[in-house]
Amino acid sequence: MKVNTRREGAALIVEMENAPVNAIGQAMRAGLAEVLDSLPINGVTRVVLTGAGKAFAAGADAREFDGPALDPQLNDVVNRIERSETPWIAAINGVALGGGGELALACRYRIARPGTVLGFPEVNLGIVPGSGATQRLPRLIGMKAALALIPTGQAIKAEEAETLGLIDGISDDPVQVAVHLDEGSLELANPICDLPRPEREDDAIAAAFAVVAKKLPNQIAPHRAVELIAATSERPMAEGLADERQTFLDLRVGDQARALRHMFFAERAAKAPDWLTEAPAPLDQIAVVGGGTMGAGIAYALLNAGKRVVLLETDAAGVVRAQENVEKIIDASLKRGLISEAGAEDRRARITYSADYGEAAACTLAIEAAFESMDVKREVFAKLEAALPAEAILASNTSYLDLDEIAATVSDPSRVVGLHFFAPAHIMKLLEIVRGAASSDRALATGYALGKALRKIPVLAGVCDGFIGNRILARYREAADTVFMDGSTPWEVDEAMVDFGYAMGPYEAQDLSGLDIAHANRRRQDATRDPNRRYIPIADRMVELGKLGRKTGAGWYRYPGGNGKVEDPIVADLALEEAHFAGITRTDYGADEIRGRLVLAMINEACDILNEGIAASARDVDLVTVFGYGFPRWRGGLMHYADSLGVANIVAKLEELAAEDPVVWTPSPLLRECLDKGVTLAEVR
Ligand code: 3HC
Repeated sequence: MKVNTRREGAALIVEMENAPVNAIGQAMRAGLAEVLDSLPINGVTRVVLTGAGKAFAAGADAREFDGPALDPQLNDVVNRIERSETPWIAAINGVALGGGGELALACRYRIARPGTVLGFPEVNLGIVPGSGATQRLPRLIGMKAALALIPTGQAIKAEEAETLGLIDGISDDPVQVAVHLDEGSLELANPICDLPRPEREDDAIAAAFAVVAKKLPNQIAPHRAVELIAATSERPMAEGLADERQTFLDLRVGDQARALRHMFFAERAAKAPDWLTEAPAPLDQIAVVGGGTMGAGIAYALLNAGKRVVLLETDAAGVVRAQENVEKIIDASLKRGLISEAGAEDRRARITYSADYGEAAACTLAIEAAFESMDVKREVFAKLEAALPAEAILASNTSYLDLDEIAATVSDPSRVVGLHFFAPAHIMKLLEIVRGAASSDRALATGYALGKALRKIPVLAGVCDGFIGNRILARYREAADTVFMDGSTPWEVDEAMVDFGYAMGPYEAQDLSGLDIAHANRRRQDATRDPNRRYIPIADRMVELGKLGRKTGAGWYRYPGGNGKVEDPIVADLALEEAHFAGITRTDYGADEIRGRLVLAMINEACDILNEGIAASARDVDLVTVFGYGFPRWRGGLMHYADSLGVANIVAKLEELAAEDPVVWTPSPLLRECLDKGVTLAEVR
């Protein structure tokens, strides 16, 4: 990490270098301070600030945020640049985010390369900008425009930034433009601190509060960002800067910032596991088997990533259905403006629909998303084995079937891997890569390469019923049903979980996916279910009554006219009836107790999953729960949250509940291991 300087005529060019994105760490700040100390320099009339490589600067180095703020601090460097007698010009050669954008705002003049991304994404890390953006940006581009960017972390391209007045010009060679900028323009350019306070815009302030409440509920930083920007019209710059800095420092050490930071780095680490040594199979042409909702979504995701796809079905009718399903997604994407007509045509040109597996003869990867039946899978894999090249990787999207049993149907099971997508497959970011007993490193590497190509978060899982995510989900739903049977209503449960931070509670979510899927799964598990484990029959009663969720107009809620949900007293009565038959005296659980039970049930199961090696790390569980199951990102994922509660507290509460039902609540051995070793879950795995 360093700051390079060189002279060009009357310009001193200062280049920030910290590959890959020039994050601004202490050494970089010290380097900039040194340049400031060296000014004025004889013959130097301007300083041109730029970045090495592809970035200007991606912001403060977030890896430093776990420790105390180190001197020199960025806000001081930024203030000194702004006040420097030798004017500074920002030559924004690539991405300028957060502190990088703040350095640019300290300069008198800003020129960016076409298409460069600029923004202040600090709220995504649970903080507000700490080096003046909330104060300088509204002065530069107006309160309304600043409110549209900082509180949601919205980034923009150079072209829009120029329209807003955030930058002064666009050039393919911003450094040269800065070096040769005429003295007159430079003299006219005032530092932002000398600009008048922005006009107060009450409507924009109210709108910004509403947007952050809706888009980023429960998060402190976005709300504080709105407040800081709103106050710029009322107080001097110095006062605003001091408030911003203190808010930044306070938030930085808070739970939300820690959690969001954890997610930021977890997400990046997931993409490149250090144990991957084999090269993946080529991914230009990929076969997808099954054109139902899942298969069509996978096919569309592949098309989005520029791949050629052969979508295989069993017969002519299936082929027609598959095409209809993919077309539906293309249409929806067109309507939402996500793709252009030309983009739609390009996607159509890259997909072939067929019932003839011979069409897939050149595919190097197949992803089976056929009906969840072992007989069906056996037949599909036999056909794939016969049609595709011997070195092609054969993947199954099965959610619940035994991947090893599927793999055993082909002569070389090392070619087989699980690729568990989440619906809608072209939107949901999680991809569980399931390692079968025989899966080769090449098969796993292919899964990771595919995840990267599709911009998904890949997480390695071992073979078990439900892998990582669905296995945790099953316990979450079991705990919900138990609470419901023993005292609450589905809407009380849902409300408690929405308060916790889920976008919807478990019952509303089931209404969306359909109660029949979980029902079929329960029937499949009948033979292997632990007879000592309590079985809650209410969901089965719902299916008998034809209440399958939104698609039948009623599930746990009613949806009159297909619209908003309405509580259904008949559903509440089902629990009263079942509890009566079972001789249960119902308890009135409060929201805290409901939340506590549902979350603890998940934590305990996740600990077993880690203990059995089904998930490799606590971090992987965090990624699965956040990116596949709606666990609030700002809580850092299930295991990060568990560590914030403390293992000892979790064990104590589980032991209390175990007195009620030891089968369900006995603490996982992994929790005991943590207690014995005095470590956190993140430390133990
Ligand atoms: N601090 C520390 N490391 C960072 C970083 C940052 N701000 N931004 C990126 N990195 C690291 C990543 O962890 C990754 O490291 P790895 O190779 O060891 O995994 C590497 O840089 C490359 O990052 P990506 O994998 O994300 O690369 P992409 O090319 O996909 O994306 C990016 C580049 C758009 C710059 C993206 O990294 C990004 O959005 N970064 C975060 C930007 C941000 O949040 N800035 C604000 C920081 S807070 C701040 O500035 C406070 C200030 O107001 C005082």
